[in-house]
Amino acid sequence: MSSTAPIRKDVWSRIAGSGSFLPERVVSNDELAAELASRGIETSHQWIMDRTGIAQRHLADRDTTSSQLAVEAARRALADAGVEASELDLIVVATSTPDFVFPSTACLVQAQLGARGAAAFDVQAVCSGFVYALATADSFMRAGRSSCALVIGAEVFSRLLDWNDRGTCVLFGDGAGAVVLKPSAEPGILAAKLHADGSQTGILCAAGNIAYGEIVGDPLLRMEGQAVFKQAVHVLEDVARETCDEAGVALSEVDWLIPHQANVRIINATARKLGIPAERVVITVDRHANTSAASVPLALDAARRDGRIRPGQLVMMQGVGGGFTWGAVLARM
Ligand SMILES: CC(C)(COP(=O)(O)OP(=O)(O)OC[C@H]1O[C@@H](n2cnc3c(N)ncnc32)[C@H](O)[C@@H]1OP(=O)(O)O)[C@@H](O)C(=O)NCCC(=O)NCCS
Repeated sequence: MSSTAPIRKDVWSRIAGSGSFLPERVVSNDELAAELASRGIETSHQWIMDRTGIAQRHLADRDTTSSQLAVEAARRALADAGVEASELDLIVVATSTPDFVFPSTACLVQAQLGARGAAAFDVQAVCSGFVYALATADSFMRAGRSSCALVIGAEVFSRLLDWNDRGTCVLFGDGAGAVVLKPSAEPGILAAKLHADGSQTGILCAAGNIAYGEIVGDPLLRMEGQAVFKQAVHVLEDVARETCDEAGVALSEVDWLIPHQANVRIINATARKLGIPAERVVITVDRHANTSAASVPLALDAARRDGRIRPGQLVMMQGVGGGFTWGAVLARM
């Protein structure tokens, strides 16, 4: 996606609607700290707030899957766009917590929505997943391969966590967000930039799998927090500038910055480096914690529904996470 192919100016994809869904159960920092304390692990609301800005997270129960969260978010996005599921010809789901090894979560969503015949596949780029999926669907639309697409980020990260590791288990939550993309004569998605550095796999990974019916490796999330922090701020600044350059717009023209919601300190440092004032940054990490691929569409939907993001405004969405992956999409709403 970082090729230098010229952008077509005659075909655009536009976000026609958004939706999101969070599991009902809200767990506050105090509640989580008490739960961990009962197992001899010390943490506190103050520590979590000071280091991350997270106050609470939504956690799915053990039976709830990514596809179930995805379907609820998708139904809301379809209703918002005024689109029937039968009109969809493409479904892309970004998730690192799929229901199954296969089929894809997107196929399960397609069946539950009744969007028979629509192409359906998953994208795996961890916390950059939604931005990767949105850029993919945009490319399909610009190439004439889709005329109605559903793009979803859905995760149940709670089941990848080591609940004995206080350095990671306090950071994540579950949820899903979705958008409907439609072709438009007016500019919608203006530019997208995607990147990865696979040599940095080890700083954030769940390096296990199932083979011959057994767990091989370590399938729980492991992270070198400080390495991820430094890398995230650096690449989020770079990719924002790159995406604006590709679109031919100045950073000062961006109405809303929606960075991946991992840590309020990463978000604030990125905004500061880009010279974007705090009142133009969407933050949901305080309420949702880090929901990986769901974080950006959850934040987008929250800010559209509360009236902050209005039609015609320019929105910069950014992902960063395991892989190491990062990317951004600049969209006119
Ligand atoms: C994880 C993160 C919050 C940790 O903050 P930090 O300031 O780097 O803290 P450190 O890891 O250096 O740990 C400092 C101390 O706090 C302790 N600590 C870690 N988690 C704790 C918790 N939940 N409660 C209390 N203490 C905790 C550590 O054990 C360490 O104690 P020590 O000094 O006695 O060894 C921070 O590194 C971070 O946000 N990184 C990016 C994570 C991220 O966004 N990941 C997802 C990207 S997609």
